[in-house]
Amino acid sequence: MKTLLLLSGLVILGASVPTPAPVPVTVPGPTYHAFCRTLWLFASTCGEVSTRLVQQIQAFNPMLGCEKCHYTLVSGTPLGIHANHTSTDGLTAENLTFALSATVMTAGCRVTAQSTSMGFTSLLDYGLNYCNLYDLLSASGLASGPGFMEITNEWACLGYGLATCKV
Ligand SMILES: *[C@@H]1O[C@H](CO)[C@@H](O)[C@H](O)[C@H]1NC(C)=O
Ligand SMILES: *[C@@H]1O[C@H](CO)[C@@H](O)[C@H](O)[C@H]1NC(C)=O
Repeated sequence: MKTLLLLSGLVILGASVPTPAPVPVTVPGPTYHAFCRTLWLFASTCGEVSTRLVQQIQAFNPMLGCEKCHYTLVSGTPLGIHANHTSTDGLTAENLTFALSATVMTAGCRVTAQSTSMGFTSLLDYGLNYCNLYDLLSASGLASGPGFMEITNEWACLGYGLATCKV
């Protein structure tokens, strides 16, 4: 039985609590998956927001060899986008998901964006996961689009506030 705790931007996936054993046994330690979850609001349709995010992810494909080309599109629809991000040295890999839903009152779109470190990372990811999301937002022009708002905090998004993303 896995336990899942949400704690200050960390998912701690552990095995069941080991019962004390008379002989010391090596129990694999918990793995810490740093993540950033953030909420974006736009005064544009989800179709438009989705298209721009997908186009930006494709424009940052490693095959193109540009500076920020570390993103691979896994799937993209107006309701949800999945992408991978891998550092140049291949040492870090993150899983990016975007869930889009229309806001009825303002004919806008709300997006729950999350970047999750797949492997072990230090408790402080220096804004890596936040910047994975922010770099797409910024490069696609969505950050300066109509009605843009971001809602997150240090608890939902590790490194938020510390992060200085190179744009
Ligand atoms: C994305 O990452 C997952 C997990 O590492 C991998 O299984 C999958 O093949 C990757 N997809 C693409 C399109 O790179
Ligand atoms: C990617 O992250 C999402 C959470 O945003 C999770 O539900 C999904 O299982 C992850 N995918 C992989 C391949 O780990």
